[in-house]
Amino acid sequence: MAKQMWKAGNMLYPLPAVMVSCKREGKKPNIITVAWAGTICTNPAMVSISIRKERYSYDIIKDSGRFVINLVNEELVRQADWCGVRSGRDYDKFKEMNLTAREGSNPSMVLIGESPVNIECEVTEIKELGSHDMFIAKVINVWADEKYMDENGKFELNNSGLVTYSHGEYFLLGKKLCKFGYSVKKDGKKHQKSTVKVSQNKTDKTQRSHQQASHNKTGKIKKSTSKVYRDSKR
Ligand SMILES: Cc1cc2nc3c(=O)[nH]c(=O)nc-3n(C[C@H](O)[C@H](O)[C@H](O)COP(=O)(O)O)c2cc1C
Repeated sequence: MAKQMWKAGNMLYPLPAVMVSCKREGKKPNIITVAWAGTICTNPAMVSISIRKERYSYDIIKDSGRFVINLVNEELVRQADWCGVRSGRDYDKFKEMNLTAREGSNPSMVLIGESPVNIECEVTEIKELGSHDMFIAKVINVWADEKYMDENGKFELNNSGLVTYSHGEYFLLGKKLCKFGYSVKKDGKKHQKSTVKVSQNKTDKTQRSHQQASHNKTGKIKKSTSKVYRDSKR
């Protein structure tokens, strides 16, 4: 199998491409499309976005200390791309793209009404990295569109047509493969298959025959399940 080694570059894909809205109080709001965005902490909920200093949005976010991450779905992909190639210095992006600017929990938090999820963020730190500065921020509030809630109020985010960005192209989130943790689930055929696969990779023959014995007796593979689960916790 031939592989080429390339010089350092950005090749971590796929990524979310999000529309980041920002506003100085009393001024027109703006939108910048950002792919260098990520979740960086669960508790407290924190995110980061990296922005070049020359972007019109840079100073707005720096001065206001706030921004909103708006998730992009299929309906918004054209607007997201356009907001990523045009500057708020020259255009009113909400107006040009026919988007609804909705006030969030305070006047400097502006939400894109058409987005399925709006994440209100407060900047805690700005890290100078090189081409981009990273805005580290705390999540203050999350807004979820009721349009994507089922009759029991469950938010069906994965049915909202989310878009992902990979190597210069946008993709619609595709076919669901499986659920978080499915590989170590205790019951069901899938679990047995995946566990057997893990055991086949092991070189320890004693362990393999022990798992086999356990399988034969009970019809389930208890031992290997707990082992795999423990491994996944490290
Ligand atoms: C898919 C996509 C992803 C982008 N990601 C970033 C990014 O992570 N950081 C950044 O500074 N610019 C990024 N850009 C470029 C800005 O969105 C673009 O320069 C925009 O016009 C800046 O708007 P502003 O001048 O109104 O702030 C991206 C553009 C696109 C289309």
